Amino acid sequence: MYKRTQDSRETWEKRYKAPDYQPNMKPVPFLVEMIQGLPPGQAICLAAGTGRNAIFLAQNGYQVTAIDISQAALDWCDMMSNELGVEVKTLEADLLAFDFGNEVWDLATNLYFYEPSLFQGLKQAIRPGGHILFQTYSKAHKKFKRGPSNDAFLVHPHELENEFRDWELLYFEETEYTDEQNKSESVIQMLARKPKD
Ligand SMILES: C[S@@+](CC[C@H](N)C(=O)[O-])C[C@H]1O[C@@H](n2cnc3c(N)ncnc32)[C@H](O)[C@@H]1O
Repeated sequence: MYKRTQDSRETWEKRYKAPDYQPNMKPVPFLVEMIQGLPPGQAICLAAGTGRNAIFLAQNGYQVTAIDISQAALDWCDMMSNELGVEVKTLEADLLAFDFGNEVWDLATNLYFYEPSLFQGLKQAIRPGGHILFQTYSKAHKKFKRGPSNDAFLVHPHELENEFRDWELLYFEETEYTDEQNKSESVIQMLARKPKD
């Protein structure tokens, strides 16, 4: 395993196992809004964390696979999906070494995790007519005093737009908002559809 991946796993495991850790189970509002118009199917949640978005998709008729490098995160997801009586398949894996398959997913969520080297394999793995829903911090987020400040984790809108120039961009926006806990963030939101050939 790469050193960066190993460090990342240790950092996240520590966070998810902390005695006072309480997972946020509210799905990302952009996901909630955007799936209204999409037909359910096979969904893959990248870097799913404790599963707030995966569980939401399962509650809305999707067959969901949630992937994360942290087993502690996925244990939370298993516990909560059991409590709620929905099925989410969890898989501990390093996405940097993951085979997404070939045209097998109707929807991939890529939320608060940015690894541009994954896009080529991920795009190949989506069925024609399927979607990738993306949201994470943009470069403009640096001005806020929380969240990542490392450039490698922050998206430049043009870079992302360029990655998906051969897809249909149903929604693409850089936006700033403040949540109910008064936390502000600057994010890129994208819903992209794979052409049907
Ligand atoms: C900011 S959290 C986002 C969680 C989730 N997407 C959400 O919105 O609630 C980032 C997640 O990425 C996972 N992660 C980091 N590096 C990873 C890798 N190489 N492969 C798989 N998951 C990874 C971490 O364990 C963590 O759960």
